[in-house]
Amino acid sequence: MVSFSGAGLSAESGVPTFRDAQTGGLWAKHDPMRLASPQGFAEDPQLVSEWYAHRRRAIAEAQPNGAHIALARHPEMIHVTQNVDDLLHRAGAKQVIQLHGTIAADRCHASCGYEEAVDMTDPPGLRHCPDCGDQLRPAVVWFGEALPSSAWTDAEQACRDCDVLLVIGTSAVVYPAAGLIGLAKSAGAKIVIVNTQASDASSLADVELLGNASEVVPALLEEPARPR
Ligand code: OAD
Repeated sequence: MVSFSGAGLSAESGVPTFRDAQTGGLWAKHDPMRLASPQGFAEDPQLVSEWYAHRRRAIAEAQPNGAHIALARHPEMIHVTQNVDDLLHRAGAKQVIQLHGTIAADRCHASCGYEEAVDMTDPPGLRHCPDCGDQLRPAVVWFGEALPSSAWTDAEQACRDCDVLLVIGTSAVVYPAAGLIGLAKSAGAKIVIVNTQASDASSLADVELLGNASEVVPALLEEPARPR
């Protein structure tokens, strides 16, 4: 079994999703092109830096929920996630593939290869790359940017090879990531979806479980009690 998750996995930890208008989805309130694109960064780097500092502090205060913990209890599972937070890692998961990068590091905007971890509780402001002098920016994937190639290759392989893809808390509208669900299905995997509502992936589901990830995922993955 491989998991494929989105923002709904971390929603109950207090990390906002992107597209849930009722629950304060980030893209319902903010323009993604101003805050999460190379153009937005070129136009107002200070605004982008402040927004990521705010998100970093919020993620530092959040704790893994029951779904992160239940997933992490299965060391054999690979977790492909669109989430940039570190809650799966903090729950103890070892095999995590972050398709959209990580908010816990900054990298050189000119892609010279420089990357450094940041203190999420006290995020740094704008500064220059010590190697090439370009600007540093969060090591996340912005709109219009390519996914990290090794993460993508590893995720494709995991989705092609799995028997079951457990899809948790994603609207499945952002590509190429969402295409992994169809890839797994075409390769013969069963698709099990956990979401509070129907999503763009519903038509691919063999099983769709509607409910909160922190309740449904532990119930699904916990070992049943053995009869004495
Ligand atoms: P979305 O905000 O698009 O979708 C979140 C999904 O989680 C929705 O389908 C909700 O119904 C579901 N959901 C919310 N709370 C839940 C809960 N407690 N339990 C289970 N499901 C719940 O987030 P993503 O699909 O992750 O990209 O969005 C994909 C990408 O779009 C993100 O990685 C980000 C964003 O732009 C980048 O930043 C590149």
